[in-house]
Amino acid sequence: MPGARALLLCSLGLCLQRGLTETRAVRHPPARIAIIGAGIGGTSAAYFVRQKFGDHVPIDVFERGDVGGRLATVEIEGKEYEAGGAVIHPLNLHMKMFVEKLGLSARPPSSSLLGIYNGKEFVFEESSWFIINMIKIVWYYGFNFLRMFMWVEDMMDKFMRVYRYQTSDYSFTSTEALLHALGGKEFIQRLNKTIDETMQQAGFSQKFIDEIVTPAMRVNYGQGAQINGFVGAVSLAGTESGLWAVDGGNKVVCTGLLYASKANLIKGYVNSVEQKTRPLRTGEGAVHLYQVNYNTDSGESYSQYDIVLVATPLNNGMSGIQFPSVVPAFKKHYHQTVATFVQGQINSTFFGCPKPCELRPTEILTTENPDLFFSSIGVVTPVKVSMKQSLGKPASDPVWKVFSPEPLTAEQLRLLFVTHGEVKTRTWLAYPHYHPPERLPPIMLHERIYYVNSIEAAASAMEMSALSAKNVALLAYHHWYDHLDKIDQEDLNEKIKSEL
Ligand SMILES: Cc1cc2nc3c(=O)[nH]c(=O)nc-3n(C[C@H](O)[C@H](O)[C@H](O)COP(=O)(O)OP(=O)(O)OC[C@H]3O[C@@H](n4cnc5c(N)ncnc54)[C@H](O)[C@@H]3O)c2cc1C
Ligand SMILES: *[C@@H]1O[C@H](CO)[C@@H](O)[C@H](O)[C@H]1NC(C)=O
Ligand SMILES: *[C@@H]1O[C@H](CO)[C@@H](O)[C@H](O)[C@H]1NC(C)=O
Repeated sequence: MPGARALLLCSLGLCLQRGLTETRAVRHPPARIAIIGAGIGGTSAAYFVRQKFGDHVPIDVFERGDVGGRLATVEIEGKEYEAGGAVIHPLNLHMKMFVEKLGLSARPPSSSLLGIYNGKEFVFEESSWFIINMIKIVWYYGFNFLRMFMWVEDMMDKFMRVYRYQTSDYSFTSTEALLHALGGKEFIQRLNKTIDETMQQAGFSQKFIDEIVTPAMRVNYGQGAQINGFVGAVSLAGTESGLWAVDGGNKVVCTGLLYASKANLIKGYVNSVEQKTRPLRTGEGAVHLYQVNYNTDSGESYSQYDIVLVATPLNNGMSGIQFPSVVPAFKKHYHQTVATFVQGQINSTFFGCPKPCELRPTEILTTENPDLFFSSIGVVTPVKVSMKQSLGKPASDPVWKVFSPEPLTAEQLRLLFVTHGEVKTRTWLAYPHYHPPERLPPIMLHERIYYVNSIEAAASAMEMSALSAKNVALLAYHHWYDHLDKIDQEDLNEKIKSEL
């Protein structure tokens, strides 16, 4: 779609001048680098940009809201709970490395008993006895569970190649090229099929897809088995054991990375990015810069940069950076997910207990049912591991987190809870509305404007943002210093084996 891309560039006011890099004779470091967005994507980009470009390049990070973005907490009765991105996979190596480097620590998420509710009753209820679970699982689903773990492991094996590629400094100019280098045609084709089709073709039973896979999609992405097969597989990896979170809240990784990168945080709202040309002092040629126009509390301002990294979704209604005529892939809307936190006692009658009884599941996922007004409800624990349990204090009601597409009405709250205290809500435009065939937006928005969030159209997760940030930092560096042999190399898996 070269036409569409040209349109986008023109809308940035960039279509007049091309061929910037030729005028640069000496390979001096860039004078300034801008990053728009201080979520996990922007702050990890700051970290990797610092690592690649060295100590002396000034880096400005623009943020209109709170550092952390979609990693945020809410407070209930003096304790904080994860309201956005919550759990991290044990093999998410960038997140793991950040936590180690920043001197933070991991905390296990609350241990829970899983129940899968179809609107009338539980179709599956986990027991606290391992052996009973095994029997139940095989009884209900045959070997589908085992096969799923093997299937996910096979994907993870391929996915893990990214860390070797990045350690060896390789980068890619598009998300398709990156995914292709990891899992070949198979990964790319997954973007064109639903997870439902993908798993049916791989031989999984429809019962398993409806009762186990779909609920996992609904809790992780607020959408059912019609999402693309790539994000679907990422979501299934999120059902594995060993998941963790960051002690103190996942967002502290973002503040930590910002600090470690010695970047300059500008609390401001970026309105536009435009290209500016300035003649060289020597009189020969000109330099081309990107001007970032932004608003702060003290009014309008601008700064000029050699390189700009965009680390926020550019989709309609997301970032407010004006793009009058957009590439189709940017038009995709983001899915609304409302997180409601309720301290109270759950209504066991609602979940099918004949008379008030003790409801055992503490993590309730749901199957696809148009009558259900929520997609999951589960007990959550505070982000801080508390050393001293509140001894002597009467045990208070648990805090539940409900995910739903729309805010819960008072009536719906009364249905779900027998009694409740404090209620807090956070409404997110949470992740893309996935619908294959997925069209991925470009990484290269212009010669030196890079789009970290391109990867979200394939799958949105903290680690995805972090690895895209590293890819973009490497790419910007190799472009700047003309290391073309580190960009878009084919057959990297074989190549790296022979390099070792
Ligand atoms: C409810 C929910 C649950 C989730 N669960 C998980 C999970 O369990 N595990 C997982 O890995 N992922 C999860 N995710 C996804 C994960 O949170 C995101 O993929 C990730 O946080 C995205 O980070 P980002 O930095 O790319 O974007 P963001 O965090 O959105 O950061 C973009 C930043 O840019 C800023 N910005 C935007 N426009 C401008 C502008 N014009 N000027 C200045 N600043 C601007 C925004 O304020 C924002 O801070 C979940 C997400 C949600 C919402
Ligand atoms: C995926 O679908 C798109 C659009 O329908 C098509 O252009 C592309 O060739 C397909 N890719 C694969 C790998 O099937
Ligand atoms: C609990 O659920 C039942 C069944 O849906 C409903 O009739 C009742 O109103 C709910 N609320 C309370 C407080 O029992």
